[in-house]
Amino acid sequence: MRIEGGRPLSGTVQISGAKNAALPALAATLLTEGQVTLSGIPPVADIRTMARLLARIGAAVEERSDGYRVRGASEPEPTAPYDLVKTMRASSLVLGPLAGHYGRARVSLPGGCAIGARPIDMHLTGLKALGASIGQERGYIEAVAPRGGLVGGRIRFRRPTVTGTEDLLMAAVLAKGESVFENAAREPEVVDLADLLTKMGARIEGAGTRTIHVEGVPSLHGTEHRIIPDRIETGTYLVAGALTAGRLTIRGTRREHLERVIERMRAAGCRIGSPDANTLEIDGCTDLTAVDITTREHPGFPTDMQAQFMALMTQASGTSKVVETVFENRFMHVLELQRMGADIRISGNTAVIRGPAQLSGAQVMASDLRASACLVLGALAARGTTTLHRIYHLQRGYANMAEKLRAVGARVEIVDA
Ligand code: UD1
Repeated sequence: MRIEGGRPLSGTVQISGAKNAALPALAATLLTEGQVTLSGIPPVADIRTMARLLARIGAAVEERSDGYRVRGASEPEPTAPYDLVKTMRASSLVLGPLAGHYGRARVSLPGGCAIGARPIDMHLTGLKALGASIGQERGYIEAVAPRGGLVGGRIRFRRPTVTGTEDLLMAAVLAKGESVFENAAREPEVVDLADLLTKMGARIEGAGTRTIHVEGVPSLHGTEHRIIPDRIETGTYLVAGALTAGRLTIRGTRREHLERVIERMRAAGCRIGSPDANTLEIDGCTDLTAVDITTREHPGFPTDMQAQFMALMTQASGTSKVVETVFENRFMHVLELQRMGADIRISGNTAVIRGPAQLSGAQVMASDLRASACLVLGALAARGTTTLHRIYHLQRGYANMAEKLRAVGARVEIVDA
């Protein structure tokens, strides 16, 4: 992607559905033989990977203009193979629904990942608590339910895990009896999944709080559901607006999902307005000041916005500290920002940024999804032209980013997809 920096952005950006809510929603279609119609599914590579996975398992997957219609398999092949899991760790989201509905799931072990070890041990101990036996052979994890199906159980998460909570929620909805999750993830994507499952006939209470109760039901049925807007895409465009002297209106979002991000950006001097609960407006800021952030589980500052916020802080006056507590090794963007002229030092899980720095265009390499977004933001603020390599990372999670940026005045082109 080639980006010419220093141009003011102005106009309207329409936010797409949340990738991280759409992935578990697609996995949830495995819980019924009924027809589930999902809309607001973003056109990104991770979603296409999940749709391919559902089709391999045996579901009938029909792509529609704004989403998918899925009818679950009656005779599934309950396996997530290595070639799909290696491109997308979230493939492990099919473990719970397959074990819950069909009594058996095989998922390839995810392997290494650019942002730390990212194990799935909590998914597995949770499945055990619901009665599954877990085995491992030839790089695959196998979960097998007892003869009568999974049974309700008590799961206390060592720390909140987003896809772990979602995976086990999908396992518990068809288990016999009551399940209780303690220290569960409270992210909006978990709530959206619980809403979908409830429409399918599940009985869930407490999604969005630390404790979730599930009363198992014998079967689930088809339904229709619209995915929530992408809060990370929203935050990314807010930063784009803040970094370029212009005015952006961001539509189709949910302000309530971004409270911490908005609060930190305002503390840094950004002028963010909100005429209604689904719209945000940002004025390009010329006098940013340094503020600190520490990433935490929701409702704390999201780790998925850490890299983009760091791009913003390179343009703020003073010294800011960015502390990453959710993932180890999530500072891959720092070296590339430094090559563009940023003044950043890392010590352990803390990055110290001194600004403002005049960034200049360079050849940079994307290492993961949010790191790539950070480099696009840096490039928009930089003098000259930046070429971002390996944009497949960006395309995993951002819907039509080049088009959306061009529509508000950026000079962005995809040179080689
Ligand atoms: C999800 C999001 C990802 C986001 C992350 C944190 C999706 C598809 N991805 O990832 O974009 O950055 O939440 O908000 O929704 N952990 C374990 N054992 C486990 C599971 C997790 O130790 O079994 C650790 C992880 O290594 C990490 C922490 O728990 O340090 C939180 O990870 P988790 O919430 O599980 O992240 P994901 O669900 O993979």
